Amino acid sequence: MQQWENFLISVEEKTAIVSFNRPKALNALNYPVLKELNEILDVLAADDSVYTVILTGAGDKAFIAGGDIKDMSAMNVEEGKLYAYAGTALLQKIEELEKPVIAAVNGYALGGGTEVAMACDIRIASERAVFGQPEVGLGLIPGFAGTQRLPRLVGRGAAKLLIFTGKNIKADEALRIGLCEAVVPHAELLDYCKKLAADINKNGPTAVRLAKAAINHGLDMDLRSGFRFESFVFGHCFATEDHDEGTRAFAEKRKASFTGKYKK
Ligand code: CAA
Repeated sequence: MQQWENFLISVEEKTAIVSFNRPKALNALNYPVLKELNEILDVLAADDSVYTVILTGAGDKAFIAGGDIKDMSAMNVEEGKLYAYAGTALLQKIEELEKPVIAAVNGYALGGGTEVAMACDIRIASERAVFGQPEVGLGLIPGFAGTQRLPRLVGRGAAKLLIFTGKNIKADEALRIGLCEAVVPHAELLDYCKKLAADINKNGPTAVRLAKAAINHGLDMDLRSGFRFESFVFGHCFATEDHDEGTRAFAEKRKASFTGKYKK
């Protein structure tokens, strides 16, 4: 894969590991970072050999320390709005990537860092991870959809507690409120996430992609519409070779070998 100024990328098996790599600012999100990640998501979307993506932070200290405060200090009303639009659109693109995205939260995930983690499908935290939405302490509010995703993820009370106080929380508290799915020893974080990705990758890739769409879009619907939407998506699975292979392998008592392809 090509070289990037603010990212390190490797692909192992069917999993792309994308590391934010802007060490001098603890991986804070400035425009060049947003622009590169936008391009990287296009590359990953188009790469059929990549089934699952892990997002993490390079270095030992930070996942992402937030939006770039130095850049934000010079912005006016219009620029602030455009910055929020750009970040929010990018995080939506992560959420809508047709492949599972795992956040391997290896350290500080503050402000925009917690917001990036929330746009991922699953969050695994190192014992050293620190989450928070400290924006009110800067005279701001979360700008990359934190006021929207956090209450949907942890409930409105816990979200308001975090956002109004601006206080950081450690990994165990994040786990307790549902802001991450597991906490693992720091040194084991990446291996844990790779194993998790491998567990996902052995399944029918189109089915996983459709399950992601059914969950994400379903959550934006009323329940009855969600039921109906799921039934349509379930029906759609029958158009794939993986449906034939998966059900046949079960009957033949062997491991399925999936291609992710649709029937001709
Ligand atoms: N933006 C720009 N630079 C940042 C940054 C940020 N969010 N976070 C850290 N840095 C820079 C620091 O300025 C410092 O650079 P210099 O050496 O040039 O001074 C370098 O990274 C190392 O940081 P520290 O010396 O502060 O490291 P520390 O270990 O003492 O503290 C920290 C770590 C607790 C994460 C601290 O850096 C911190 O509080 N950072 C800001 C966190 C924050 O408030 N994030 C929210 C930003 S607003 C936002 O994200 C809005 C949104 O919704 C998009």
